[in-house]
Amino acid sequence: MQGPDRGTRVAIPPRTAADAPPGGGGARTTAASPRAAAPPRRLQPPLAATRASGIRADMAVSVFLARRIDAGLFANVHADVFDAPPDPMLVDGFLAAPHLHIAVAVERDLMVGMCSGVVYHHPDKPAQWWINELGVAAPWRRQGVGTRLVLACADHARRLGCTAIWVVADPTPEATGFWKSLGWRQTGENLAMFTLDLAP
Ligand SMILES: CC(C)(COP(=O)(O)OP(=O)(O)OC[C@H]1O[C@@H](n2cnc3c(N)ncnc32)[C@H](O)[C@@H]1OP(=O)(O)O)[C@@H](O)C(=O)NCCC(=O)NCCS
Repeated sequence: MQGPDRGTRVAIPPRTAADAPPGGGGARTTAASPRAAAPPRRLQPPLAATRASGIRADMAVSVFLARRIDAGLFANVHADVFDAPPDPMLVDGFLAAPHLHIAVAVERDLMVGMCSGVVYHHPDKPAQWWINELGVAAPWRRQGVGTRLVLACADHARRLGCTAIWVVADPTPEATGFWKSLGWRQTGENLAMFTLDLAP
């Protein structure tokens, strides 16, 4: 199955001077107000989203691509973020793998959101970024954190030379509303998932 053609996909527009992070390289954004300090609107149509008002005044969420040095952050994670508590050995293996990436949202020392992805290398086309999982803890939702996580992944994917970024999601109102708010185009319908359990 050619995943990108079966899910929600958006081509990554070329990088411009306007969206370069101030210091170059990986951008770590800290926002006293995520809505106010998120990347300027419409820098990267159709990836950028329009935000409304209504933020928590006390909120200071950093969003950045986690590296191995950040492994300790996975010891203090809001229960909503992952399906299960992260295992230190698995975290280390994940962060060490060159094709696996994860953007995290951290408030003080608590991880409140994440977006993980795989850089897919194909024999017949350039690399693409598959968003594997996305989760924001309930108290932090509708405050731009999910948008910032996805934009961080898209920006990193662009830096790595990926030509598209895509996700396969159940078309719940939540997921549909979120991905469409980013300007992503729905390219798959009526998808079914098939699984074979390989555990001994
Ligand atoms: C989906 C999810 C990641 C969104 O995270 P978030 O931080 O709330 O997203 P944002 O605040 O950046 O929302 C951006 C826009 O997406 C849309 N949106 C977000 N949540 C929505 C919902 N529940 N219903 C409809 N639209 C929604 C809105 O247009 C929103 O902008 P607005 O708040 O100004 O109206 C989060 O709700 C979540 O973790 N849900 C549980 C996991 C899940 O469903 N993952 C599916 C993703 S594949």
